[in-house]
Formats: sequence, structure tokens, C-alpha cells
Amino acid sequence: MQIFSIEIKEPPFFQLTQSFKDNLLFLVQFLRDPLTIGSLFPSSKALANRLVELMQVSHESKRYLEVGPGTGAVTDSILQKMGPKDTLDIVELDPDLCRVLRKKYENCKNLKIHQKSIEDFHEENFDGIVSSLPLNQFSVDFVEKVFKKYFKIMKPTAFLSYYEYKYPKIMTALTERGRRLKKIQTLKNFYGQKHHERIETVWKNLPPANVRLLMKNPNLIAAV
Ligand SMILES: C[S@@+](CC[C@H](N)C(=O)[O-])C[C@H]1O[C@@H](n2cnc3c(N)ncnc32)[C@H](O)[C@@H]1O
Repeated sequence: MQIFSIEIKEPPFFQLTQSFKDNLLFLVQFLRDPLTIGSLFPSSKALANRLVELMQVSHESKRYLEVGPGTGAVTDSILQKMGPKDTLDIVELDPDLCRVLRKKYENCKNLKIHQKSIEDFHEENFDGIVSSLPLNQFSVDFVEKVFKKYFKIMKPTAFLSYYEYKYPKIMTALTERGRRLKKIQTLKNFYGQKHHERIETVWKNLPPANVRLLMKNPNLIAAV
């Protein structure tokens, strides 16, 4: 007769839900490097779904790029919208997050993880880029480099989607940070005007965010 039959399959931490673990890891990484991670929490499902809005089902194989996947909050939505012949490259700078992503997506054959900065990524011909980079944390020069790179590696009919957190206008006041943010906004608006931008607010996110959706060559799309 077995009197004590308590079976502990895994320590309590591993019984936590995956999303709780992702949130915890994200927070730890933020505390270690707030400027690179740029946010306390991963994106909500509502935000992730908006970011993939321009992905279209097609018989041809499409090539997508995700930059700054973190713990995969947006990656999951991209994968859900991909067709069987589509592929996804993801570029993540943080080695700990890359380790988590490799484990999480180990069975995903059409996904390739690149552990590097977007600056050092040189593949091209993408049908769509979904970027979660915290652009407002970076220098103006770096943001300009990122935009130039994105539009260089996109196919003529490709889309770019990214987001930025909504912040009170007072932050753009006369501080050094405010001046830098203003220049970054000007740069974003320049690319937005050139590439037929649509901006949508997602309130169901912490903090609320603006999703910015751009087409590289809107005239070409209209002509198809
Ligand atoms: C705001 S988090 C977004 C995470 C996730 N996509 C989400 O929405 O929850 C930004 C991510 O960008 C990554 N990152 C920052 N700078 C990067 C760079 N230069 N190249 C690639 N990834 C970078 C960070 O490590 C982090 O995972």
C-alpha cells in the first residue's frame, strides 16, 4: 500500500503559465537593460494582431522579417498568419531572449533566429517587416540607419509595421530627451508621408500604443 504518493513532476516555478514566465523574463531583462528592451511588459495580443494586419494569405511563398521579438509576443501572431510556404527570419540582440525563442520555436521549421543587432543583418527581399524596436530609446542617427535598412531590404510591394507608445506631449518639452524625441518623430513622419502610412491606436496594451503601418510603394500596390 502506498501511503504517501505525492508526485512532484516539476518544481512550482515551472507550473506557472507560459505567459506569466514570459512576462517575468521580460521584466528581468528590462531591469538589466532598460534602453535596449524599452518596455516593462511584452505586447498584448491586441497590439500584436494589429501589427500583422498587412500580412496577406497568398499562394506564393512570402518572406517575413521580425525585428526585436523579445519573448515572442508578436512572433506568435505572425506565425498564425503565415501560409505553409512562408518563412520568418527573426533578429534579436539579447542572447537570453534568443535562448528562450530557440526553445519556444524549436519545432518551427520555417523560422530562423538571428542573434545579432539589426545593423549587422544583411539579408534582403522581404515581403513584410514587423519591427518592435524601441526606436524612441535610440539616437536619431541609429533610427535613421534602421529606416534606411528596412526600406533597402524590403521588396517594392512590401509593408513595414511598427509601434510606439503613446506618451504625454509634455515630454517633448525643452529637455535634451524631448529634442531627441522630436527629431525621431520628424523622421518617422517623413517615412510615413513617403510610404502611405496609416496610424492606429491600440488602447488594449500597457501602455497604449500607436501602430504605424507603411507600404514601401503604394502606387505599385494600387496598380496590381
Ligand atoms: C519593446 S521590446 C519588444 C518585444 C516584443 N516584440 C513585444 O512586442 O513584446 C524590444 C526588443 O527589441 C530588441 N532589440 C533592441 N535593440 C535591438 C537591435 N539593435 N537589434 C535587434 N533587436 C534589438 C530587445 O532586445 C527587445 O527584445
